[in-house]
Amino acid sequence: MINVGVIGLGTMGNTHLDVYAKRQDVKVCAISDVDPKRLSGEARAKGNIEGQAQGGFDLSSVRRYDDGIKLIRDRDVQLVDICLPTPLHLKYALAALRAGKHVLVEKPLARTARDAERLVRAADKAGTMIMPAMCMRFWPGWTWLREAVVTGRYGRVLAAHFRRVSSHPGANHPLYGDGKQCGGAILDLHIHDTDFVQWCFGMPRAVFSSGYRRHTSEVDHVMTRYDFGPDGPMVTAEGGWAMAPGFGFTMQFTVNFDQATAIFDLAAKPALSLCRDGQREPVAMPDGMGYEHEIAYLLDCIARKTPPSTVTIADGARSVRIVEAEAKSVASGRPVKVKS
Ligand SMILES: NC(=O)c1ccc[n+]([C@@H]2O[C@H](COP(=O)([O-])OP(=O)(O)OC[C@H]3O[C@@H](n4cnc5c(N)ncnc54)[C@H](O)[C@@H]3O)[C@@H](O)[C@H]2O)c1
Repeated sequence: MINVGVIGLGTMGNTHLDVYAKRQDVKVCAISDVDPKRLSGEARAKGNIEGQAQGGFDLSSVRRYDDGIKLIRDRDVQLVDICLPTPLHLKYALAALRAGKHVLVEKPLARTARDAERLVRAADKAGTMIMPAMCMRFWPGWTWLREAVVTGRYGRVLAAHFRRVSSHPGANHPLYGDGKQCGGAILDLHIHDTDFVQWCFGMPRAVFSSGYRRHTSEVDHVMTRYDFGPDGPMVTAEGGWAMAPGFGFTMQFTVNFDQATAIFDLAAKPALSLCRDGQREPVAMPDGMGYEHEIAYLLDCIARKTPPSTVTIADGARSVRIVEAEAKSVASGRPVKVKS
């Protein structure tokens, strides 16, 4: 049994609590939020997409802290789950590592690439495990794609396009309404696809991005071409929350292999299909969302005393670095090299 403490009881804190509630190998022993209504359970955050933050857990017997540092000092807590606004990830993850706790930290790993590097250095010295919650590396359908890419089952990838777009969560939202806090959609939303591109194809040599601001001081809608050299695949991704209210949320990919084309569309039934030999066939996927698979994976790593390898802290930092290059490219209108 692993004892977990969750800091930040917003959309993601509640989504992770839903996952823990369904498992036998983990006990939520402490929670923390600066908002007294969220801490008491009087107010519960809702999800942005279907399936997030269902509220299916009982918090009557957990210890409650109005300060995340107090939760980190709780001797019973073995795993600290950080679901805080992005600029706070660094402070609380560093404190948790220094206190000898395992850490799950929501994406993006940190608000800036420099902060992310500080975490990588701290993790190197720590005797505990830390994993960034890059949930697309665990998402049903997306894990299938990654396997198809690395095994070459349908030949090499000629082209891949990823798309993740939504309406904006609202100007008054303390995190998503403030570009300084969230980093705009380019860091908050689009990083999922940047990270997935990195996972499938490695570090791009350069990025060439267009984008614009709409709701925050940062890029709220971006289109990026990732440069993998003249012999590499043609890879693009679009991400943003600049769609009109009522649009909702969608995530999609179209990946063109030598011998087949794979299509994922969250709104389609089935979501994943494969075109080859003149047919379009559905592809079966495991149930659930990436969150439950990602948490199951980390708990298993802790139980087996084996550091996570599906996503590492260095991967999380590299994704923030690529996104910063994309933002620079938007600002300059030119391709920007990415440090490998
Ligand atoms: N993996 C995903 O798909 C996904 C989806 C949404 C958000 N996120 C990420 O998760 C993080 C949290 O996002 P969210 O949507 O849950 O935000 P949120 O605003 O819904 O929740 C943040 C919570 O943290 C609390 N808080 C703020 N400062 C605190 C402090 N010092 N100590 C304790 N509590 C504090 C707030 O009161 C709030 O309840 C962000 O980094 C975001 O990018 C990831």
